[in-house]
Amino acid sequence: MTPDSAGSVAAAALFRRTYGAEPTVIASAPGRVNLIGEHTDYNGGEVLPIAIGARTRVAARANGSRQVRCVSASAADAGEFSLDDPQPSGKWWDYAAGLARQMSRQGAALVGADIAVWSDVPAGAGLASSASLEIAVGLALARIAEVEFGRRDLALAARHAEEEYVGVAVGIMDQFASALAVGGHALRIWCDTGETAQIPFGGSVLIFDTGVGRALRSGAFNARRAEVESALALLRRRHPALPSLAGATPEEVAAAELPAPLDRRARHVVTETRRVARVADALGRGEPVPGEELLASHESLRRDYECSAPELDWFVERAMRAPGVRGARLTGAGWGGCAIAVGDAAALESAAPEIAADYRVSFRRTPGWRITAASDGATVASLTVRP
Ligand code: GLA
Repeated sequence: MTPDSAGSVAAAALFRRTYGAEPTVIASAPGRVNLIGEHTDYNGGEVLPIAIGARTRVAARANGSRQVRCVSASAADAGEFSLDDPQPSGKWWDYAAGLARQMSRQGAALVGADIAVWSDVPAGAGLASSASLEIAVGLALARIAEVEFGRRDLALAARHAEEEYVGVAVGIMDQFASALAVGGHALRIWCDTGETAQIPFGGSVLIFDTGVGRALRSGAFNARRAEVESALALLRRRHPALPSLAGATPEEVAAAELPAPLDRRARHVVTETRRVARVADALGRGEPVPGEELLASHESLRRDYECSAPELDWFVERAMRAPGVRGARLTGAGWGGCAIAVGDAAALESAAPEIAADYRVSFRRTPGWRITAASDGATVASLTVRP
């Protein structure tokens, strides 16, 4: 079995109940939380996520057809799609269908399968639940079809599927993190080249889910993408060879005198990618996460990228008043979702319930929280099925 066997057992049980047979493959892929480097991935900058303990598991078996049948423990609807002509349905399995289509386009000869999904990555919280679903499904489908499909190609296929098929213009961070992260390490990704490095990270991270939903998020996200594209186009008038917005220097951005708010959006991107490098270098030297870089990141996201929310700002301010907390910031796309705090594990353990209680009083909303280390990456295992 895979390292997270409790979840895998649950996925296998759902598979048996639904399809009346034993699964032959179990795949498992983690959600992620980003230590630093927000809204830099689609600007060609750097990011530094870790895999979290929450994961999506997929139990699967070939079904001898060209259909992929899908059931999930966390969704009322079950459905299916054709490998030959997958059509978007507006349902959760579009992630699987879009991915299968993209894997086929990239040359994978997939075969029909039944799949059962079990996940404890909360949906809509900004912890990459969809990326973890895509990566787990992709690993399972590749294993069942006995095709070699590299992790990096899978991550790229998943990102492409999410943009083309599901309609959100995300960057590569979530899918890369879910596919390539390794336990005990943060994954440094240079998003312009797709190059990655494993950076030892033994610390603890408090993930605080504000419970503020994503209603605004995809529209606001796509609006930011349009703004940074305009900023890059203007900068290229002065610097035609500029490879990406993150490739500009803070001095070049300041000198360009971009119109507001493009000046602020660009300033966030070029300063944030430099913060990632400083944090990764500190971790590489065996130092703890420099908390001031996280705080500077949050301030830049709040003021320059304007993707924070009162609940996220409240958390950062409140967490920093707790003894032993070294740094805090919003994580993921923002406009709600999750924030993180870093510090000693014991300090985070004692601070979290107090912060949650104060949050309930201030916002009349119950937050979610968990403390995570850099957890295991994605796995896939073939099961020995009794005849
Ligand atoms: C979402 C996207 C990522 C990244 C972050 C912001 O999580 O899926 O690709 O752009 O927002 O850093």
